[in-house]
Amino acid sequence: MRKKVTVVGGGNVGATTAQRLVDSGLADVVLTDILEGVPTGKALDMLESAHISGSNVNAAGISTATGDYKEAANSDIVVITAGFPRKAGMSRDDLLKANYEVIKGVVEPITKLSPEAILITVTNPLDVMTQAAFKISGFPKNRVMGMAGVLDSARMAAFISMELNVSVENISCFVLGGHGDDMVPLPRYSTVAGIPLPDLLPKERVDAIVQRTRKGGGEIVNYLKTGSAYYAPSAAAFAMCEAILMDKRKIMPCAAYLEGEYGIKGLFVGVPCKLGARGIEQIIEIKLTNDEKAALEKSAASVRELVGILGL
Ligand code: LAC
Repeated sequence: MRKKVTVVGGGNVGATTAQRLVDSGLADVVLTDILEGVPTGKALDMLESAHISGSNVNAAGISTATGDYKEAANSDIVVITAGFPRKAGMSRDDLLKANYEVIKGVVEPITKLSPEAILITVTNPLDVMTQAAFKISGFPKNRVMGMAGVLDSARMAAFISMELNVSVENISCFVLGGHGDDMVPLPRYSTVAGIPLPDLLPKERVDAIVQRTRKGGGEIVNYLKTGSAYYAPSAAAFAMCEAILMDKRKIMPCAAYLEGEYGIKGLFVGVPCKLGARGIEQIIEIKLTNDEKAALEKSAASVRELVGILGL
C-alpha cells in the first residue's frame, strides 16, 4: 500500500510541501485547510501535474471547516504548517497564543484519525508549537519533531557557497538550538569538502555568515513584505518526510524532545537526529565547547520562556 502524508495548512509553506511530495511520487498527499475550496483546488492542480512529472500518487484536498478530516485518516506522516504569519502590530506573544489555538484545533482531530503518524511541525514559533503538538497528541517523543535545523543549515550552506564560490553540494552545515535569532550555527562542525569552515575563512567572515544565518528568515520577510519564506522551508519539510518515508536513517538537525541530552530536560530544541521509518531513531550528542554550550543554553532558555507562557 502506498504511504500517505497529510499536510495541514494550504498556505505557501503547506502547498509547496505538498507539491514537492506529489512530484516525488513517494506518497499520496492530502492537503487540508480551514478555507473551503482552496485545498481542493490546489490538490487537484497538483494531481493534474502528476502526469507530467510521472508521479503515480493521489492528491486530495479537504476543508476542515466542515470538520471532515476522514480522507486524512491513517496517514504515515502529518506535516503541520497551519497558523498565522506575524503581521504588523502583532507581538511575538500574540503570534504565540494565536498559533497555539490553531495547533490545539488541528492536532487533536488529526492525531485521533492517524494514531500511528509521525508529526512534523512547521508552524512558528517552531519549537514551542512542536512542544504543544507533543502534549496535545500524547504521541511518543520519537514521533513528534519540528522542522527548522534543516532549513537553517541549508541557509548557512547557501551563504558559504556564495562566499567561497564553491558548489553547495560540497557543504555540510550544522545549526542547533531553537528556530529564533539566538539559534546556534556551529562553524566547527560545518565543512566544505570535509574541511572545517574556520580553516577556510577568516573569523570575521565566519561570524558574518553565522549572523546572516540567524536572521535568514527575517531577511526574506523584509523582501517579501507581506509573507515569509516558503521555498526553502518546504524543501526542508520535504527532506524530513523523504528521510522517514525511505527509512534513510539520515542525520538531520530537528527540534526534538530532550530528556537530559545536552543538559536540557523536558523541552523541544534543535539537535542532530537520525531520521528513519520510526521517526527520530536517535539523538546524536556532540561535544560542544563552553561557548557553544552557553549559546545553546541561551537559545533553549528563549524556548523555555515561551513554553512557560503557554504553561506547556
Ligand atoms: C523562516 C520562518 C518562516 O525561517 O521561520 O523563514
